[in-house]
Amino acid sequence: MKKHISRLSLIFMLLALLGFILLISNITSLENLNIQLMSTFYKIQNTIHSAFKHSEKSLPLNINHTTCEHFAQEPTAEEVKEERDLLNSITWPGPLVNGLPVELSSDPAKSYFVIQGPPVQHIGDQLVVNVHMHNFLDQPKTHGGDFLIARLHSPELGAGVAGKVHDHQNGNYTVLFPLLWIGVVHVEITMVHPSEAVEVLKRLQKEQPDRVFFKSMFRSGNISEATVCNLCMPLNEKPLCNYTDLKTGEPWYCYKPQNLSCETRIDHSIGGYKKNLITEYEAQFFQSKVNIKVSIPASMLGNVTVLPAKKEQTKIKRSIYHAAGYYFNNTWKPLNGAVMQQFSNSLAITRCLKGKTVYMFGDSTIRQWFEYLTAFVPNLKQINIYSSKQLGPFMAVDSKSNILVTFRGHGPPIRSTSVFASGLRYVANELDRLRGGPHTVVLVSVWAHFSTFPTEVYIRRLWHIRKAVLRLLDREPATVVVIRSANLQKMGSESSLFNSDWFSVQIDAVLRAMFRGIRVQLLDAWEMTLAHHLPHDIHPSHPIIKNMIDLILSQICLKKKK
Ligand SMILES: *[C@@H]1O[C@H](CO)[C@@H](O)[C@H](O)[C@H]1NC(C)=O
Ligand SMILES: *[C@@H]1O[C@H](CO)[C@@H](O)[C@H](O)[C@H]1NC(C)=O
Ligand SMILES: *[C@@H]1O[C@H](CO)[C@@H](O)[C@H](O)[C@H]1NC(C)=O
Ligand SMILES: *[C@@H]1O[C@H](CO)[C@@H](O)[C@H](O)[C@H]1NC(C)=O
Ligand SMILES: *[C@@H]1O[C@H](CO)[C@@H](O)[C@H](O)[C@H]1NC(C)=O
Ligand SMILES: *[C@@H]1O[C@H](CO)[C@@H](O)[C@H](O)[C@H]1NC(C)=O
Ligand SMILES: *[C@@H]1O[C@H](CO)[C@@H](O)[C@H](O)[C@H]1NC(C)=O
Ligand SMILES: *[C@@H]1O[C@H](CO)[C@@H](O)[C@H](O)[C@H]1NC(C)=O
Repeated sequence: MKKHISRLSLIFMLLALLGFILLISNITSLENLNIQLMSTFYKIQNTIHSAFKHSEKSLPLNINHTTCEHFAQEPTAEEVKEERDLLNSITWPGPLVNGLPVELSSDPAKSYFVIQGPPVQHIGDQLVVNVHMHNFLDQPKTHGGDFLIARLHSPELGAGVAGKVHDHQNGNYTVLFPLLWIGVVHVEITMVHPSEAVEVLKRLQKEQPDRVFFKSMFRSGNISEATVCNLCMPLNEKPLCNYTDLKTGEPWYCYKPQNLSCETRIDHSIGGYKKNLITEYEAQFFQSKVNIKVSIPASMLGNVTVLPAKKEQTKIKRSIYHAAGYYFNNTWKPLNGAVMQQFSNSLAITRCLKGKTVYMFGDSTIRQWFEYLTAFVPNLKQINIYSSKQLGPFMAVDSKSNILVTFRGHGPPIRSTSVFASGLRYVANELDRLRGGPHTVVLVSVWAHFSTFPTEVYIRRLWHIRKAVLRLLDREPATVVVIRSANLQKMGSESSLFNSDWFSVQIDAVLRAMFRGIRVQLLDAWEMTLAHHLPHDIHPSHPIIKNMIDLILSQICLKKKK
């Protein structure tokens, strides 16, 4: 009986979706859209930007923090406290003096690290590495705030683990690594940004929250007009169209078109990336191969030999491990005691997902999971021919094994190419539409499109998502919910101003804190990309995605056995 109902509802959902897709395809095809992938945004930004140059001048988008807050719903007293604690927890130390010559800023090439302890150590030991930051004149730095990341690895073993960096705020840093495998291990310390660059990023966060801007096309009959849209807009400037979501209160505004009503909004897309954000002086702190993601050399020894655990250490204390897991033989090994299975053929995946519905919501970093599954499992047939290539909705079905996998992009401020305006959906609202239950798996990834906004904007978004997750787990406690963390990405002098890992590490700390103590699983994409040997990329490469999927499937199938 139950099966019949779920089959029926599946058919209805399919029909509804098909209708929706047809509708979208009709409207979007009129626009003769050139759908491109996220990574090509930089290419289109110039043309869009110049098209908007005029309106930008007359419409100062210099929105500040206060204006963003004014647009959001009033937080409760409890939320105000949580927000204050979250913001306090991510405060970043800064240089004592701003405006010093670039020669006095941190230079990774002149800095060095020193491995502490003997050159031969044992499994279960903690490897301690001291990092000493110097400036371009080779003088020791006397303050902290440089953004460093660290990895310990053995290339020939396909092994790697992330290190934990402590800032002593005097120019010296200590990095801790757990020693987890036998062999020669190499230390890799990378300066992502000098503290002087972090100051610039902080300034941008405060003064330029609209440095990524959006646009909408309005059309009625033969009149059409495009205007600029954003999450925070200046008040009392020009008439606005208010698209604030009534259910969550998530704000969204466009300038009102001159000759059309607000109801004639057709689509949503990224408008562009603002230019000339920083001064020539500030640009010196953002030089590729000089002070963006450059590794710091070892002063002497850069490696240690690890031997088996000493007798008295046979029981390794997990508490010394700051890491979520590590790679060995290129396979992720979680350190929280979870069992990691390999799903190396499509049959194993089908068996694991039999009878399940998997909902994926968020940005392109979760869309990769959908793409991985549908490419790897031939029985999972995709039926979303006409939906937006970036935001979906996508659907894949294996009707024989009763598997449904869906993906839908999150709501604005999503930096997509043109999508039908009412196709934008907030994750919290989508979660409220799910019944949930032991056969439901929900995967959420919301981070990459929030890097340019004040952290408060992200906190509000997560409040809404967290409330919806709690409601879902309350109605159906057996629902599996996985939240994907941020990951490291490739950074250049221009892209750093929009997508720096420093922005990501800030909002990622907020994400982790906000879901702590809630019965969701955190997929640590940060460490899984940091510990891996492949280059950082906003869209992690295939071997990393495989490890992520295997980890999630291991969790899902473990649940099933109970
Ligand atoms: C698509 O548009 C055409 C006219 O442009 C209209 O006749 C047709 O009904 C539309 N189809 C759908 C599914 O909206
Ligand atoms: C931010 O808001 C304050 C108070 O409303 C105002 O004085 C200030 O000029 C604004 N700053 C910017 C950059 O718009
Ligand atoms: C940083 O480390 C170096 C080398 O060990 C040491 O000489 C220096 O005193 C340390 N700096 C501070 C401020 O403790
Ligand atoms: C727009 O349509 C109206 C009638 O629907 C027509 O009178 C007018 O000439 C059209 N304008 C343009 C620019 O095509
Ligand atoms: C936009 O609409 C929302 C919901 O109706 C409302 O709370 C908010 O105050 C409106 N914003 C402005 C600037 O009027
Ligand atoms: C709005 O209509 C007026 C009068 O027809 C015209 O002059 C103006 O250019 C139009 N504005 C836009 C943005 O199309
Ligand atoms: C370890 O470091 C030493 C000193 O830099 C170097 O001579 C040796 O080749 C390294 N060992 C390996 C396996 O890379
Ligand atoms: C390493 O992984 C490969 C498959 O990825 C497997 O065939 C091989 O047996 C593994 N080696 C060890 C030592 O686990």
